[in-house]
Amino acid sequence: MQVIIKKNYEELVKEAVTHIKSLIKAKPDAVLCLPTGSTPTGVYKKLIEIYNKKEIDFSGIRTFNLDEYVGIPAAHPSSFRYYMFETFFNHVNIKKENIHFPPSEIGGENIEEQCREYEDLIKGAGGLDMAILGIGRNGHIGFNEPTSSLQSRTRVKTLTGETLRDNDIEFEGDRLPDLAVTMGIATIMAARSVLLLASGENKAAAVKNTIEGPISAFCPATMLQLHPRVKIIIDEEAADYLSRKSYYKKVYERTLYVEQLFTKK
Ligand code: GLP
Repeated sequence: MQVIIKKNYEELVKEAVTHIKSLIKAKPDAVLCLPTGSTPTGVYKKLIEIYNKKEIDFSGIRTFNLDEYVGIPAAHPSSFRYYMFETFFNHVNIKKENIHFPPSEIGGENIEEQCREYEDLIKGAGGLDMAILGIGRNGHIGFNEPTSSLQSRTRVKTLTGETLRDNDIEFEGDRLPDLAVTMGIATIMAARSVLLLASGENKAAAVKNTIEGPISAFCPATMLQLHPRVKIIIDEEAADYLSRKSYYKKVYERTLYVEQLFTKK
């Protein structure tokens, strides 16, 4: 895994956008797994900004969102669908038919069947080119809470008290659903590349466990240690507890140098 430590959130956003932009340039019909939360909001804002400058085109892009609360209407301001349209989709030229969310409506077909269909849709699109992720304070990715199977696929998860408390802040007093549908760890691991973003001191412990801790279902993000193409982009505060911070910085600097050495002039 490549650990990229930036001096602040703004720089983290720039770094993430650079990688997303170069993927879309190389593959205009790329398949992206998209997250919600406060961490990626700056990334969406910057993507809109460069879209308005005509530096990026989303017309061929296909997206699959990571997770959604069970039973929350799409029009509810707390739903992840609402967040995605407000924060990003409504502002760029992505095609509505290329946007996908995990099944979350109550009633209708068997939920396990619907989750399998979501997995099939991802496979049918050729698989995820890039999974963009945030991380919970307890080490969750998507809504894969501690003790989630490291081989899990899209399914319903029960949220922990701490996740409910953390997310409650955004819920303006409404009762928060304690069930969510999330891509599984194996779904994320099947992505051809992963960008994990973390900002702020409250993520420092989860970041340390993810990078330097043993692989464990108790901190689901640790599974990313087994992924061959992961970039962990964090700011100084989120990097606070890392024991080899200066080494990670050196590796990153040398990686850029090597890239330069092997780029045709
Ligand atoms: C939420 C989402 C995750 C997200 C995490 C952190 O519960 N399910 O996908 O990464 O919490 O959110 P934030 O970026 O707001 O800290």
